Parts: sequence; structure tokens; C-alpha cells
Amino acid sequence: MLEIMLLAGSLLGIWHFRKLAMESGEAIEGMASGNLPLAAKAINQVLLQNKVGAMSVRGATLSENAADLVLGKKAQPVREKFVQAWVQYAKPDDFGVLFKLHSPLPVGVGQKDLEKCLDGIATYLGGKVELVKDGNGYGFYLRTRGLEEKIPYETFKFPGGKLMAAIGEGYGGPVAIDLATRPHVLIGADSGAGKSTLQKAILCQMVENLSADELAIYILDLKKLEWVEWQAVDQVAGVVSTVADGLAVAKSIRAEVEARYEKMTGIAKDIHGYNQKCPQKKLPYIVVIMDELFDYGGKDAPIWREVGPILSKCRAAGIHFILGTQRPTTDVIAGDVKANLGVRIGLRTTSHQESLNIIEAGGLEDIPPHQKGRGMVRNGGLEDFQAYWFPEEKMSEILEAHSTGREKYRLPVAVEEAKKGKLGHKN
Ligand SMILES: Nc1ncnc2c1ncn2[C@@H]1O[C@H](COP(=O)(O)OP(=O)(O)O)[C@@H](O)[C@H]1O
Ligand SMILES: [Mg+2]
Repeated sequence: MLEIMLLAGSLLGIWHFRKLAMESGEAIEGMASGNLPLAAKAINQVLLQNKVGAMSVRGATLSENAADLVLGKKAQPVREKFVQAWVQYAKPDDFGVLFKLHSPLPVGVGQKDLEKCLDGIATYLGGKVELVKDGNGYGFYLRTRGLEEKIPYETFKFPGGKLMAAIGEGYGGPVAIDLATRPHVLIGADSGAGKSTLQKAILCQMVENLSADELAIYILDLKKLEWVEWQAVDQVAGVVSTVADGLAVAKSIRAEVEARYEKMTGIAKDIHGYNQKCPQKKLPYIVVIMDELFDYGGKDAPIWREVGPILSKCRAAGIHFILGTQRPTTDVIAGDVKANLGVRIGLRTTSHQESLNIIEAGGLEDIPPHQKGRGMVRNGGLEDFQAYWFPEEKMSEILEAHSTGREKYRLPVAVEEAKKGKLGHKN
């Protein structure tokens, strides 16, 4: 009877904790004010319910089955007590709490058993729970506070490298991409999630970092209105807004890749080495932005016959693509193109499948529609982030400072095309 009352009492406590956690913002407060043991108990409870038991028997932690063998029938009533051996300690940080489990895992219990319990623990505690490896052991990390909803431009610092750009802040601090490491980027998300804003934020940093002698940007955007202001920027070699002009640029880029390989033969392995050896004839980096891939007519569109074959050769030639799409489906981006897009940035999507298509994991579909610029980036590992907010005025300020009217770099082939009237080069 006493045991039943104790059990009922602890369940009520857990329920209370869950209620605290659900009322967002109060969870960490609840934990700070002494509810950590209760949360730990809830975790033990779920492990037990999932038959992932662990018992402390004379100092050793055993799996439930092993303890049953040692303790025989007596195991049942003491389970509640012995199961405490699971969570060793709870360590809060700025965003949540790590519940460290006993290490090593009890005999007969593996990572898969722990993964099975994640949903149950999340339901009990409210919030997002992850299984994390911590040293030799495991822990459950409960996020009690999300990322900031809006991260002002002022908090942002330029990362060091020439081809680097900060995209936002994650749980571990600033999140950056580096085209020198992974040369091409895919940004995928539903309309209005913040794709163009992020593309522009990345470009703004490149424009601040690299002079017009070091960088030439081509912007392919069929919407015509979004990138008008960029036309005048010194580093922007062209803003084109028709499929035909886009194709002409792609052809130029392809020819440029071949020309650069020829130039570098016998001199250097890549643009970096070449520019060091030939300081008088330095080659600029070229960054090509394609916003809304779907508009080019799907994966078999002529533009891909130019872009597809060169992607893997581009890094050595100093040429980089940043692609944006609302529809990251196989009919829009071919598998071999996607395989070359080493950085995958995903913002809110409407479906789980779209999330999988972009970052090879679910989760983007859970981002609420009002949360602009929230996303996950696969850049080696997978990371949550909130994109920096570059207000229009700030961007305009940066663009104006770099619109001096100086002569721009032109791709040799693009110049020919422009002479024939095929390219919409202004100035
Ligand atoms: N990082 C951000 N933080 C806050 N608001 C943002 C952010 N990025 C975009 N927004 C808001 O969302 C709107 C849509 O963004 P946009 O980049 O045009 O989306 P998309 O290109 O995906 O359609 C912007 O006008 C802006 O108001
Ligand atoms: Mg857009």
C-alpha cells in the first residue's frame, strides 16, 4: 500500500514537472528550483516502462534481466528504488539539461534500447530530447530553451577565412560555412522561410571580405525584382533574369573552368597555388547564385547540362555555386548535382520528405511558419541555427559602400555573349 502511494506521489510529481515544462520558459526555472531529481525520476520511469531497466546490486549496475536473475522474484517490488541507478547526474547549461546515464551501460542494454525511449521521455518532460554520447557513456539532453527568435545583425562577427560566411547562431555559438572546405551550397525551404535573405547575408559578407579583383559574382534570378540593387556592386559581374541569359552564364562558367585548368597546368594544383605563383595575373573567385532552381525547368533543363559536369572540378578553379530552391525534389535537382552540394542549409519546409531531401534528416517541417530564418545545416554534422537578421537598410548600406562604378571582371565567354546581345549586362 505504501509503495502504491509512493508511486502515485512520484507520478503526480512528474506530471507537475511536465506541466511546468510545457508552459514554455518555465521549464528551466522549474528545474533550477529543484525539480531536477523529479525529471531524472521521470526518465528512469520511462526507461523502466520500456523494459530498459537497470538496477544497482551491490555497487554494480545490472540490466533488468540480470537483476531478475540475481534477485529472483524479489526484483519486482524494489524496481522503483533500484532503477535510480540510471541517471547519474543532471547538468544544466544555457539551453537545457544533460541527464548523464550510468556508464558503462548495464549488460544487455544498447544504444537502440535508449533510442526507443526518446519519445516517451519527451512526452513526460515536454520539450526536445536528444540522446547524446558523452565521453564513454550516454546521456539524454533536454532542451528547455530554444534559439533566439531573431538575431540582430549587430551580434554578428565576420568569420576569419576569405571564403567563409557566418549564417547564424546555433546552440554552440556562431555557425559558419566555408566554401574552401565545401565548395557548393544548397539552400532549401518553403517560400517565405528566409532563403533569399540568407543568400544575401552570405553574399554581403563575401563582398565585405573580398575586393572586386578577388571576387566576381553572377546572380541568376528569374524573379527580376529581388536583386536589382546588386547590379551596381563592384563584385557583381552580372545579374541575369532570363533562362537564356542564365544558360549563357552557365556556358561561360563551364568554359572558364576548362580555361582555368589549362592555365594552372604545370603551375599549380588549384587557384590558391596559382594566385601565389602568379601574383600579376591573379584569378578572382567566382560565386554563382541561382535563386529558385525550379524556374529553370527541372533537372533535365539545358542549364544543368552545363553546370552538372563541372561541379566536381569547380573547387580547384575557385568557382562556387550557391543554389536556392523551394522544391528540393528529385525532378528539380538531379542526384549527381545534389551529391556535389556539400553544404545543405534547410529552413522551414512543409513536409518531412522535403526536410529529408535537403538535410537528409527530418525536423525542418516542425519549424513554425512565423519562425523566419530558423533552420538546420548539414556541413559535415547537422546543426540547428537561427540565421542572422540583416535588415534591408543594413544590406543597402553595405551594397552602396561597394558600388563605386569601377570596372568589373567579366568572364571572357560572357563578354562575347554580351556583345552578341545575349546577356543582360548593364554598364
Ligand atoms: N533571419 C531572419 N530573421 C528574421 N526575419 C527574417 C529572416 N530571414 C527572413 N526574414 C523575414 O522573412 C521574409 C521572407 O524572407 P525571404 O528571404 O524573402 O524568404 P524566401 O526567399 O525563402 O521566400 C523577409 O522579408 C523577412 O521579413
Ligand atoms: Mg526568395
